[in-house]
Amino acid sequence: MALTITMPEVAKLNDQAHSPVVIQLHQDSAPYEQVVALQDTIEQHLADAGAVLLRGGNFGSPAQVEQLAACFMTQVLTNNTEHRPASTNGNVQRPVEYSESEFLLWHNENTFNQRFPGRAIFACEQPALSGGQTPIADARSVLSQLPADLVQEFIDKQVMYVRNYQADDFVGLGWKTIFQTENKAEVEAKCRDQALEFEWRGEQLTTRAIRPAVVIHPATQAPCWVTQAQHWHFSCLNEDLKENLAIMFDDEADYPRNCYFGNGDRISDQTMAQILQVYQANHQQFDWQQGDVMLVDNLLKAHARNPYQGARKILVCFGDPISFSQL
Ligand SMILES: [Fe+2]
Repeated sequence: MALTITMPEVAKLNDQAHSPVVIQLHQDSAPYEQVVALQDTIEQHLADAGAVLLRGGNFGSPAQVEQLAACFMTQVLTNNTEHRPASTNGNVQRPVEYSESEFLLWHNENTFNQRFPGRAIFACEQPALSGGQTPIADARSVLSQLPADLVQEFIDKQVMYVRNYQADDFVGLGWKTIFQTENKAEVEAKCRDQALEFEWRGEQLTTRAIRPAVVIHPATQAPCWVTQAQHWHFSCLNEDLKENLAIMFDDEADYPRNCYFGNGDRISDQTMAQILQVYQANHQQFDWQQGDVMLVDNLLKAHARNPYQGARKILVCFGDPISFSQL
């Protein structure tokens, strides 16, 4: 006898442009079967809206996230050394560790790398007592609302992400952790593979990567603003961190992270303030409920994290890699 599935309810989160789509699963049918039955519709919403929230499915465990990844990703990425694994095979991970009291600024995951995830899955194992949302901002909206001359300068010059690593974890993760080796030749091979310039100063490693600020989405052909400058630029750090870095390092060039235009020109603080304003204006969010899952197109949507109180357990899974060299 064929299994009868009650089809979920589909709605927009809000009336804003490119609002995420919310799919409310029914309690009287198995949640995963409902998702499978609606897979083509969900794919269409991911292409249009860029983010889909699956609610009511109680999907808050690594095994369930892996099951959904098998449905919505052709390849899962396990080699993200910035994140701690949440499953033994590394397919599901914990988000990057960052102060609970601070806002983690918007970014398209890992778009400072040559190869980055095309899709991300976020799942809520345990919501925070307050705050802790994962706001998203649409890359098409951000691009269309930034001043044309600002966008053109970023298209022309691109962005250079500079990272200084100590050998071991210190202010940020050390190169042995990030590159998963103590062998400098292996580090260099990995840098070449990721189109990273590298420079050794004794045991300290500096890497420089020049990446585009705007790309055309390979499936939808939508132009997307994908720079992570706001995630790296010194002016965007909180005041405490700025003060501490100024005490620890004499020269800004030694800071753990910073970014410039691709030709080495400084990106002004005023420019970064304009970019942050546009992200803030396009900020959309919801309160996590236990078992929620958000599917995200990593080019169409940047994500952030709000400050929070109380224990917060979120799972992440990244997949469907894209390389800047293909765009
Ligand atoms: Fe992230």
